[in-house]
Amino acid sequence: MPTPKVLLTRRWPSEVEHYLSQRYDVTINEHDTPPDAAALKVALASYDAVCPTVTDKLNADVLAAGGGRVKILGNYGVGVSHIDLPTCKRLGIVVTNTPDVLTDATAEIAVTLMLMAARRAGEGERQVRDHKWGGWAPTRMIGTDVTGKTLGLVGFGRIGQATAQKAHHGFGMPVLYYSRKRATPEVEARTGGQHCASLDELLERADFVSLHCPGGAETRHLLNAARLDRMKRSAFLINTARGEVVDEAALADALRNRVIAGAGLDVYEHEPRVPEAFLGLENVVLLPHLGSATLETRVAMGMRVADNLERFFAGLEPGDRVA
Ligand code: DGY
Repeated sequence: MPTPKVLLTRRWPSEVEHYLSQRYDVTINEHDTPPDAAALKVALASYDAVCPTVTDKLNADVLAAGGGRVKILGNYGVGVSHIDLPTCKRLGIVVTNTPDVLTDATAEIAVTLMLMAARRAGEGERQVRDHKWGGWAPTRMIGTDVTGKTLGLVGFGRIGQATAQKAHHGFGMPVLYYSRKRATPEVEARTGGQHCASLDELLERADFVSLHCPGGAETRHLLNAARLDRMKRSAFLINTARGEVVDEAALADALRNRVIAGAGLDVYEHEPRVPEAFLGLENVVLLPHLGSATLETRVAMGMRVADNLERFFAGLEPGDRVA
């Protein structure tokens, strides 16, 4: 078999690019700008493996252009809501992702957002940089304790569990979770997680609601105006999952009208666009999709893709197959 042709749609950490280039006929998108639909169509018709990421929208129309050439999409990232998996299955395109290796990094960002939102860290930093800090005072910049508060997790997969563990053991937080499947007693014991029978119950009881469910059509705008209204007025919403899980217009209204106390967001529905409505609000912390952004994690993600390609081209089942 000729050396497989592999496309990386973005730049990856150099050691992973080097590793892959030694094994395959690799093309790298040196410009590092997300390819548009037309470029993705050409790629799918030209390479045996295309390695996309969250910035590449692989819908049914784009996927059909592969015409049988592309055999595997080795996604760089765990979330795959940007790929139409049923169409991939129908067209016989294998899809893999990169679970496990980004779990702790993403959980760290969820905890970062909880702390930043509750302790007004972004707002405080802006004051200092803008020369607006008037000095220590007993009543200024008063935030909210995190320690001992109740954390409610929507979705309880790997990242949700890791967030629970850090919050429970690090900050003594009681943990509630809502997910389709109840976790095993061992997982509940390790994370301190208590299962909630309904999302509404979790929203009503939690001081911090952190989203850890997959994105996509099924969870689009799960957190809408009615659900935000169920939350405590003192509560914070944290999103490190996918932007589309939150109705951003409803969240901006809820923050402006103090329906909830604050929010911490790492993801947005139409990245890299961040709704203008958030930019003027002090009670929302806005990060630029940093969940997996550590060097160790980004290298490990690339090596996970490499393992999946290696198994696939050796005729074996890739470890992280999702379609
Ligand atoms: C992930 O792995 O899903 C990150 O959000 C980057 O795509």
